[in-house]
Amino acid sequence: MSILVVNKIDEIRNVIKNYRNQGKSVSLVPTMGCLHEGHKSLIKKAHELADITVVSVFVNPIQFCPGEDYDKYPRTLDADKIAAESAGADIIFAPSVNEMYPNMQKFSDLTIVTPPFELTDIMCGKSRVGHFDGVETVVTKLFNIVQPDYACFGKKDIQQLFLIKKMVADLNIPVQIVDCPLVREDSGLALSSRNKYLSEADRIAAVSISKSLSAIKSACESGIKDIKKLLDLCIANLDKKIDLEYLEFVDKNTFKKIDVLNGPIICAIAARIGAVRLIDNIELEV
Ligand code: PAJ
Repeated sequence: MSILVVNKIDEIRNVIKNYRNQGKSVSLVPTMGCLHEGHKSLIKKAHELADITVVSVFVNPIQFCPGEDYDKYPRTLDADKIAAESAGADIIFAPSVNEMYPNMQKFSDLTIVTPPFELTDIMCGKSRVGHFDGVETVVTKLFNIVQPDYACFGKKDIQQLFLIKKMVADLNIPVQIVDCPLVREDSGLALSSRNKYLSEADRIAAVSISKSLSAIKSACESGIKDIKKLLDLCIANLDKKIDLEYLEFVDKNTFKKIDVLNGPIICAIAARIGAVRLIDNIELEV
């Protein structure tokens, strides 16, 4: 069966309804396209879990802040079809902006799903104000459109994964969220659609982001628990071309910022190389 590409909400609902009538289960992998091996690992997992795998490809305008890369975000639907199909997807849902947000003039015209302030006043939520409102709103819409049994999300976007799980629990959305491991290049660099923006020299510099996280992990394992010392270690390991946006330590279970390292922790970083913003994270057992 070759992959089916659907652009309309009514059509995807009908296609899914037919499968449901045949008793088939459905999984969803929400993406913004420009699919790489990280996305493909989610699609493979989704394919293992359910009879029918839907991959959504939608560059969601309402999750980009003013001045961010919405206009130049890579749009590669032809290549995405091949990548999604090779990983086991049955359907690509690729709606237009007008299909998802008919006649939207401005963000404030919409009904928005907003995560708790305390959980977004840290990490990416703090540096990209309103970003997670846009993410939660589009993911809710995708859940309502596709009504999947399972939805796969990557640990690459660790704050997003935490907030989506909370949203699903808080709003009783009948879907099982499946965590998928962060996929890296052999160099350690976390795969990202935004890596496409990097020159060869920038890519070499970008590797120091994951190196700095590994250095923090080793330091923690050897007993260093002082956050200031870990921050200095991170900066010392980062390539000079890189601007650190944040390095934060949060409790893995609550996502609250911590001052004392204790228990399972997520150490998350955002950094810029020129205009390119990259994120990464590592789990620490302290
Ligand atoms: P996007 O950045 O395209 O990512 C889609 C999914 O792929 C997310 O769950 C993300 O965590 C996962 N992913 C990306 N790179 C990965 C990697 N290296 N390893 C493992 N998983 C990886 O995240 C979004 O799109 C959007 O915010 C979206 C949820 C689609 C809402 O618009």
